[in-house]
Amino acid sequence: SPQGEFRNEPFTDFSKHEHAHAMREALTRVGDRLGHEYDLILGGERLRTKEKISSINPARPAQVVGVHQKAGAEHAEQAMQAALKAYETWQYVPVAERASLLLEASALIRERKFDFCAWLVFEVGKNWAEADADVAETIDFLEFYAREALRLDAATTPIQYPGEKNELLYIPLGVGAVIPPWNFPFAIMAGMTAAAIVTGNTVVLKPSSDSPTIAAQFVEVLEEAGIPAGVVNFCPGSGATFGNAIVEHPKTRFIAFTGSKEVGLDIHERAARTKPGQIWIKRTILEMGGKDSIIVSADCDLDQAVQGVLASAFGFSGQKCSACSRAIVDESIYDVFLDRLREGVEAWKVGDPSSNAKMGPVVNRGAMESILGYVEKGKKEGRLLAGGNAIETPEKGYYVEPTIFADIPAKGVLAQEEIFGPVLAVIRVKNFDEALEVANNTEYGLTGALYSTDRNKLAIARQRFHVGNLYFNRKCTGAMVGAHPFGGFNMSGTDSKAGGPDYLYLFTQAKSVAEKL
Ligand code: SER
Repeated sequence: SPQGEFRNEPFTDFSKHEHAHAMREALTRVGDRLGHEYDLILGGERLRTKEKISSINPARPAQVVGVHQKAGAEHAEQAMQAALKAYETWQYVPVAERASLLLEASALIRERKFDFCAWLVFEVGKNWAEADADVAETIDFLEFYAREALRLDAATTPIQYPGEKNELLYIPLGVGAVIPPWNFPFAIMAGMTAAAIVTGNTVVLKPSSDSPTIAAQFVEVLEEAGIPAGVVNFCPGSGATFGNAIVEHPKTRFIAFTGSKEVGLDIHERAARTKPGQIWIKRTILEMGGKDSIIVSADCDLDQAVQGVLASAFGFSGQKCSACSRAIVDESIYDVFLDRLREGVEAWKVGDPSSNAKMGPVVNRGAMESILGYVEKGKKEGRLLAGGNAIETPEKGYYVEPTIFADIPAKGVLAQEEIFGPVLAVIRVKNFDEALEVANNTEYGLTGALYSTDRNKLAIARQRFHVGNLYFNRKCTGAMVGAHPFGGFNMSGTDSKAGGPDYLYLFTQAKSVAEKL
């Protein structure tokens, strides 16, 4: 119940026979449902377009996971009208009712957890644990924002002015465009959507073309949970046509986006241009890239540091904005750290995520080519320590070896540009001061970690390591809803802090009401 305390959804232990068995059954069950066609959903109406988007399994590109409609610029008006119409009533639906919808959806997802994991395995190539973490985070967002909406609804003014009754109401903004990424295609997609609707907004949801099927599954869950028509309008489509049209529409009130820096900045600029008939300043909630560092201090627990760097760099093939792509290592332990890293990476076996390989493919051919391009640059900038190749499989999956470069200069391309793949740059530094300087030398500021047993260093890093999510003696990926409100500084975005106590404010505007007594 929404009154119950929030608890993070526990992760599934797949070393337990019954869970592994349940997962294999789900893979078979969902495997039988691959390739279906899904509709656009506008105001509860289902429609089809001439052009289609095919979502494929990156581990076996011949396998179609789902066929989707492709909304074009011409669908933006229809989507907007559907969302505007639903907004007329949805904005006044009691918060408790909107929160119950999220909780009902969360319960349905928890019931069918393994199936959702299986969809993620097939659609974006997550292994079981990565898929499970994505599903658990989805549940967490729904549970957390349901409670947060009730908290906001009960807000009061800090002061009651003598002789008055003072109220502070957090009311919705209007119609929002929700544009999620493919890398947490369930959690981030559902989280941004849930935050928007629980606060009374209605949404045009444009999933990533790499992962529309899991989004379609989510919309089906919302329908099953009783969402009224038009509150979430499901519109797979091209970013350049439909995406831009909805961002630029004069009735769009806000845009919640997670994805690349280039697209985020482009959305920001488009949203800033006022269109004829537009009567507000559009709000943008933008979570973009990262070039995240782990500082490995001379006084750290080396085993922990090696494991933390590897998990942060290669989990889900490094395709996380939070991924560690730079290990900044004190020269006094540099060589031993590299030896241990090379040993440790041996355990990162690459293979088909449906059989739960430690590392799966990257999301599509373009990503693979871009990553391999960076590998070539790395060979010029530093010393290849491990990996560096594409892996050929009979199914022609998009596999890249976990790749490590040593001796990368702190201002080199590999140290500065987001690669979004399994490529780690190791940078040697003279001391802790230099380590911090290097850690802060990019245009980003999303996550970072420090491995050290020296409390003084932790205290200095707490002040000077300029990232939205800083971790000590643990990996820099895997933020937990509620515990690690997530979002970054500088070109990493607007620091929206998803899963934190400030997040829902971004989807509301505050109205002060004073009554003279
Ligand atoms: N929240 C994810 C993480 O912390 C990234 O989006 O890894």
